[in-house]
This record gives sequence, structure tokens and C-alpha cells, in this order.
Amino acid sequence: MQTHDLEKRFQEKIDAEIKIEPKDWMPDAYRKNLIRQISQHAHSEVVGMLPEGNWITRAPSLRRKLILMAKVQDEAGHGLYLYSAAETLGASRDDLVMDLLNGKAKYSSIFNYPTLTWADIGAIGWLVDGAAIMNQVMLTRTSYGPYARAMVRICKEESFHQRQGYEIMLTLAKGSPEQKAMAQDALDRWWWPSLMMFGPHDSESTHSEQSMKWKIKRKSNDELRQAFVDATVPQAELIGLKVPDPDLKWNEERGHYDFGEINWDEFWNVVKGHGPCNKQRLDTRRKAWEDGAWVREAAMAYAEKKAARRLQQSGEEAA
Ligand code: 3HC
Repeated sequence: MQTHDLEKRFQEKIDAEIKIEPKDWMPDAYRKNLIRQISQHAHSEVVGMLPEGNWITRAPSLRRKLILMAKVQDEAGHGLYLYSAAETLGASRDDLVMDLLNGKAKYSSIFNYPTLTWADIGAIGWLVDGAAIMNQVMLTRTSYGPYARAMVRICKEESFHQRQGYEIMLTLAKGSPEQKAMAQDALDRWWWPSLMMFGPHDSESTHSEQSMKWKIKRKSNDELRQAFVDATVPQAELIGLKVPDPDLKWNEERGHYDFGEINWDEFWNVVKGHGPCNKQRLDTRRKAWEDGAWVREAAMAYAEKKAARRLQQSGEEAA
């Protein structure tokens, strides 16, 4: 069948809401776009463990430490899940990780900000995981089967992440004046970088138009950002915190909040590697890769030995 006919049949499947599976024919550009997005999603999960991991030994109680440990472990699992989804498209996990460590692949800008106080852990759960949920619930309906199914599992854990973060902020906001000030300071520092997680404006987005046509994306960057603001502002007000945006105002006519302009210079500066923690994050991931080399070698040696033994046994049985 001609490529033109294959592409036509592929788009008909997408339009008919038929999931694309690993063994199905797909345009190279679809495959490439998915490997790009899924691998960067996986990198984000793994790098995202670092800012929070910084507070596991400093958590204010055993309960908070246990919850934070569970959350950070969940993020590792999300990363592995997503690397596996990328591998179903023919990508090699080692190549994907090398692209991250060599600075070729992106991960979410949000993880390049420092976690200065315990309230940051609350703000990350509430805002960062809250923004991630907005995006990931949409991705449970993405056209690529393995990605959509991975999202169903991940979203269940993300809602626990968001709730525990909001509970930290609620506890602080209802605490002493110093605790409330710490929560407000964290909101001030994490609000705008959280809005940046949704990516550039639709008009500046490289991939959105094609990703929407292929139903990789179901909602645009700006639609998801708006939904996040609409859902999160009332949550801040409920616990007596003030969103750091003088232009924030409910617009009855639109049925949404109007809000100020993002600092896109800051966004692209961070995406290009010049954020507060970019170097620290990649150095840590490179060290983890080097320190873990012996584990990978041992696992590979064991797998090869096991395969050789199985081959020998089947040879003996056949004889
Ligand atoms: N940080 C870094 N790079 C970003 C970015 C961000 N916040 N937003 C956009 N970009 C990059 C894109 O990757 C693209 O660069 P590339 O071509 O080199 O990949 C460029 O900016 C243009 O952006 P587009 O809007 O054209 O890119 P997309 O169509 O891919 O949309 C996205 C960006 C909405 C982030 C989309 O990639 C996506 O939905 N990804 C899956 C979800 C994800 O990765 N979330 C990140 C957070 S994960 C997380 O928070 C884990 C939680 O457990 C804490």
C-alpha cells in the first residue's frame, strides 16, 4: 500500500478514536513526536525526584517523611513506566537517558527551581502535581495506547501527591504567623513557574497543531493552563493565601480568571539550561548514572548467563 494510503488510513483510525498500538503502522513523524514527548515526560519524573528528595531527611515529622518517601518513590515508578512506553516505539532507554545527560533532551522547567523551605514541598505537591494532573488526565485519552494506559495508573498516584501537598499548605496556613508566611513565600515562588509547566502560548507552540491533529494532545497548552488557574485560585483563597498576580481577576463574562503575562524570558532561559538549579540537577543525574553502572552490568551479566544456561538446557533436552 502506498504511503499516502497508509497515512490516510492512519488518520481515519485516529479520527475514529481507535488507539494506535506498538505493532500498528504509524507515520515516522508520529513515532518521533511521541518518543520526544514521552521520553521528556519520563526525564521530568526522574529529575523531579531531586528537589523533593532534598527534604526527606528534613521532614518535620515521621508521618511527613513517610508520605514524602512514598511520593518520591512513585515518581521513580512513573519515570520507569514512561521509559517503557517510549521503548514500545523502538527507542532505546540508554539512548534516551544519554540524551538527557548530554543536555540534548529536555525535562520540565519546573524542576530547576530550589526547594528552600518545607513549605516548598507543600507547594510542589499542590501546584506542580496539580498542574501535572491537569495535563496527565488529558493524556489518559492520548491516541497512543501504551501512553494512555500508563497515564491511567500515574494519575491515580498524582491525585494523592496533590492532596498531600495541599494538606501541608493548609496546615501551615492555619499555623503560626511564621508558618503562614512560609506557605505564602512558597506560593509566591512556585506560582509562575507552575504556569510555565504547560509550555509556551499556543501561538508559539512548535508541536501543538500536529499533536492535536494526531490526538496526542486533546487540549492546548493555554486551555490546560486556564483550567489549572481556574481550579487553583479558589484553593489558595480557601486557606487564606494570596496568588502573586496583581492582574488576577474573575471574568464573569468569560467564566474564567483573567491573569497576568508569564515572564517568557525566564521560561526560555530555564528551558535553555540557565535556571537556578539546571547544572545541579544534571550533575546529580550524571553521578547517579555513573554510580549505577555496576548494577546495570551485573543485571546484564546475570541475564546473559541465564539465557546461555536456558539455551544449553534446551540443547540437552533436544539431544
Ligand atoms: N519545560 C521544558 N520544556 C518545555 C516546557 C517546559 N515546561 N514546555 C514546553 N517545552 C518545550 C517542548 O518540549 C518543546 O521543545 P522540544 O521540541 O525540544 O521538545 C518546546 O518547548 C515547544 O513546546 P510545545 O508546546 O511545542 O511542546 P509540546 O507540544 O510537547 O507541549 C508539554 C509541551 C505540554 C509539556 C507536552 O510535552 C506534554 O504534555 N508533555 C507530557 C507531560 C509532561 O512532560 N509534563 C512535565 C511534568 S511531569 C511532572 O510534573 C511529574 C509530576 O509527578 C510532578
